[in-house]
Amino acid sequence: MDAYTNIRTKRDSRSYKPDPIPEDVLQRILQAGRMAGSSKNTQPWGFVVFRDEARKRELAACGQFAEHVPSAPLVIAVILTPGGGPLDAGRAAQNMMLAAWAEGITSCPVAMHDQDCAARTVGLPPEHRVAIVLSFGYPESKESMHRGIQRKPLEELVHHERW
Ligand SMILES: Cc1cc2nc3c(=O)[nH]c(=O)nc-3n(C[C@H](O)[C@H](O)[C@H](O)COP(=O)(O)O)c2cc1C
Repeated sequence: MDAYTNIRTKRDSRSYKPDPIPEDVLQRILQAGRMAGSSKNTQPWGFVVFRDEARKRELAACGQFAEHVPSAPLVIAVILTPGGGPLDAGRAAQNMMLAAWAEGITSCPVAMHDQDCAARTVGLPPEHRVAIVLSFGYPESKESMHRGIQRKPLEELVHHERW
């Protein structure tokens, strides 16, 4: 899959086969996160891997729309260390999801609405926070990949020289 097709076809989906993610694939996903650029190359992040069912359930309880998280064979919490910003975390997260999709693995970012709960569950030191949680798995079916969600047309988004 070329880069443009990968980006264009990536959908956030929440139904996964139970098949585990092979270790070498996990390593490539994590490397993709690691290689993201960050402000002043501070790399203000860490990645916490969850595969244990009970731990995934604990984490899911910290989000409002996280019911599918325990059923994902792989979950990665993207952690921001002090000084890191949301764009840093976003670049690392999208890199990981696109690298996974290139291997046929679908994913979904999941917000942690109760930040204290998420930090406690992950076991974070002070001033660290869970920027986003990513659930990964092989798609359960083709149908589960297409919720029919559209994007705004470019004409609505693009401006030239000024807003
Ligand atoms: C910052 C952010 C937070 C999100 N949080 C959640 C969430 O808590 N639960 C969830 O199921 N999806 C979550 N999503 C996924 C969005 O619902 C999804 O990107 C959007 O509906 C587009 O879906 P599509 O790529 O399948 O078209 C989140 C996405 C982003 C970027």
